[in-house]
Parts: sequence; C-alpha cells; structure tokens
Amino acid sequence: MNNMILVVDDEESICRSLKGILSDEGHEVLTAPSGEECLRIIEEELPDLVLLDIWLPGVNGIEILQSIKTNYPHIQVIMISGHGTVESAVRSTKLGAFDFIEKPLSLDKVVIIVNHALDLVRLEEENRLLRDRMMPFDELQGESKAIVELREMIQIIAPTNAWILIMGENGTGKELVARSIHKQSRRSNKPFIEVNCAAIPEELIESELFGHEKGAFTGATAKKRGKFDLANEGIIFLDEVADMSLNAQAKILRILQEKKFERVGGTKIIETDVRILAATNKDLEREMEEERFRQDLYYRLHVIPLLVPPLRERKEDIPLLANHFMKEFSLEEEGKQKTITDDALNVLMTHDWPGNVRELKNIIERLTIMTATDVIAAQDISPLIKENKKFDHIDVTLHPANSLKDARREFEKKYILQKLAENGWNVTKTADSIGVERSNLHKKIRNYGLDEIKKE
Ligand SMILES: Nc1ncnc2c1ncn2[C@@H]1O[C@H](COP(=O)(O)OP(=O)(O)OP(=O)(O)O)[C@@H](O)[C@H]1O
Ligand SMILES: [Mg+2]
Repeated sequence: MNNMILVVDDEESICRSLKGILSDEGHEVLTAPSGEECLRIIEEELPDLVLLDIWLPGVNGIEILQSIKTNYPHIQVIMISGHGTVESAVRSTKLGAFDFIEKPLSLDKVVIIVNHALDLVRLEEENRLLRDRMMPFDELQGESKAIVELREMIQIIAPTNAWILIMGENGTGKELVARSIHKQSRRSNKPFIEVNCAAIPEELIESELFGHEKGAFTGATAKKRGKFDLANEGIIFLDEVADMSLNAQAKILRILQEKKFERVGGTKIIETDVRILAATNKDLEREMEEERFRQDLYYRLHVIPLLVPPLRERKEDIPLLANHFMKEFSLEEEGKQKTITDDALNVLMTHDWPGNVRELKNIIERLTIMTATDVIAAQDISPLIKENKKFDHIDVTLHPANSLKDARREFEKKYILQKLAENGWNVTKTADSIGVERSNLHKKIRNYGLDEIKKE
C-alpha cells in the first residue's frame, strides 16, 4: 500500500534522512519545518501518518498534536522527542499519539514503529469499509416492482464504468441510488465525492472542481485540491446537475471530455480518472428546450438513465419503509423499538407524499419522538399529515398545465389555500393579509372548492 507520511522537524538533516529511509520503504514522504506548515500540508494532502517533533519553533508539537487529533482523528501521529522532552513524549501518548521515538534516531526503530502505525491505519480503514457495507440503513428498501427492478438495474450497471444519470422527484432516493452504485462498483474502496451543483456560486465552481494554486485570486491564500483531484480513481456525484449555470456546464463538459484539467492559476496539467454519476429532479428535456441545459452535456451524461419513481406510484412500499425507519430511529435513540398498528399504516398509505421518502422518513422520526406509548396508532398520525398539508410551503412545481390561464389558476388555488391555513381559515383576516376584498375571496373559495378541503 502506498501511504503518505508527513515528517515535521525544524532540523533539516532529520527531515532529509527520514524522507530517505521512508521513501525507500515505498512511501510518499512530505516534510515541513514548522507546526504552521504542518497544519497547512495536512489540510491539503491529508497524509496517513505524521512524524512530529515535540520541540518546534512557534507552535509546539504538543499543541499541533492536539489540533490534529481534534480535526483529523484518523491521522496517526508519532512524536519525535529530543533530549529533555521525554516527559512530554509520554504525555503525548495520553493525548492520542500512537507512540514516540527518541533522538538520536535509530532508523531501524523508526521503520518498525512507522509500520506498526500504518498497520493500524489500514485496519481502521478496513473496519470503516466493512461497517459501511454492513450498515443496512443506507440500502435501498422496497419490494415494489419498480424498486426491485431498480435494484436489479443497479446490480448490472454498477460494476461497469458507465456514466449514469439518476432522475426523480425530490426525496425519492436519488442520492441513495448513487451511493449504492458506488458501493457495488469496482471503485468501492476509492472515494465517492459529492458535488452539490446548486450550492456552489458560479464564480467558485472552477476552483471547487479543479482546485486552485496559491494566489490564483484574492482569498486564495493556499493551494487547494479540487473535487476532481480528490475523486481520482473514484466516483464524482454531480447532484442537482440541472442547477448549474450554462457557463459552469461548459466547464464541466470540457473536463468530462478531456479527462484532464488545470488548477485555477496553475499550468500543470492534471490527468484524472473519474466515473461520473449525476442526479436531477428537473425534466432535462424541457430544460434543454428552454435553453437552460446544454444538449451536448445532456447526451454525454445520459448514457444510462435511471428513473427513481415517486412514492405515490409505489405505495405498497410504505409499510416496509415505515417499519424500516422506525427501527432506524429507535436504534438511534437507543430506546425500545416502537411498533405501528395496521390502521396507522393504512393512514400512511392514503397520503400522497409530495416530499416522497424523505417526507415519510421525517414523519416517522417525529412520531417516534413524540408518541409517548410504544405503539403508534392511526390517531397519532393524522394530525401530523394534516398539519403538513396546511403549512407546507406553496408548492410552485406545477403539473403540466395546458395554458398560462390554467397555471395561474393552479397557483392561485394553492396560494389561497396556504394563506387560509395560516390564518386559521378566517376569511376576513386572510382577505386582509393578501389584499383582496372579502367578498371576492369568498367567491374564489367557492370556485376552487376550497371549503370542501377544509371539511376534510
Ligand atoms: N428506498 C429507500 N429505502 C430507504 N431509505 C430511503 C429510500 N429512499 C430514500 N430513502 C431515504 O430518504 C431520504 C431522502 O433520500 P435521498 O436524499 O437519497 O433523496 P434525493 O432524491 O436525493 O432527494 P433530493 O432531490 O431532495 O436531493 C434519505 O434519508 C434516504 O436515506
Ligand atoms: Mg439529493
């Protein structure tokens, strides 16, 4: 295994000899003359192991150790102790250092201790991977035809290198699908790097994806590795891909085609081997028609499309999902596992779940926390779902309306409904708050059949 080791010592000769011997052992070795430099390199390169001198100019080794253990607990640290710092060295093992070695250094001893520490790094990493694999809670649950087929499809395409576009409404499980592809892929022990395209401001997208060199722009105080760097040999998940600006789309396309890139402000060409998964809740064909999404990027990403169906089209999965989430939340709370009655499950099945699985999961979480008894009954659920309906934000995603008039009507209906709910169905107050005549509002309520909804 090729490990990265950082040697921190202000004595250049020590850095040099440690670098020599550890490189001969097949490791990549970086060196730093001070604590400040050490922290900077750690942030950038994330080494597996740090050999850290206790006495350093400026911030001393013990403080650096504490900072490493707080921010990067998985990095192992071996302290190097000079004459007179043995006591501190012993104390450092209590603070989480793996071990310490004394100056003058016996190089044989250094190699032995380093190998032990790296064994530990490897074991911990293996443990983590195993735990990830065994965690049933991030698996795609469901026995509906649609989900069974989706799982089969994932099994077939995950081990290939194909690019995959995952489509589906909010909360249907797109990210879960992406993670499950990673887990079953040949890149499963390489990184899975998520990029939320909607959350990155356009002017930062290049530096986020490709990284930047120190001084590339104001605020770039240090070199930074980009997501494509970090994901090398692994998978990049471009989440909300339709929310990227056209400009950013062009930049992404280029790297997708050329498989190499330069850091912002840099000249070095960096080759990268990444597999791309992308997800969106938008209708990309429509986005293309309206010139918000590039056709060439669409065809590049659309190699294998996967559609995650909305929960209302697979209601038979609701009981299974509900029970699954109840188990998950009871474990989290370390409480006794609650159960749910058949009547209660029936109530859940009548709801349409506009927020899909995420909405169901949220409601189950609230139920497990708020229900005092061990059994969740129908009457515990109804108020939560009703309340949700009333106070949900106005849902501006329109069903494909035929005309502007239809769209306007649909929006107006939802808007009035929400305002009525907010004002406790007091028509006078609502009319005031939205600036229309009371009689006018009455007419609209009748027209849209909203008084019927209230009676429900
Ligand atoms: N089939 C499923 N089995 C178990 N848990 C699921 C399933 N589908 C979704 N979930 C859970 O529901 C939540 C929402 O799923 P996820 O984040 O994958 O949805 P999404 O489609 O990416 O949503 P958004 O469009 O809002 O980003 C997550 O906590 C996820 O673990
Ligand atoms: Mg998502």
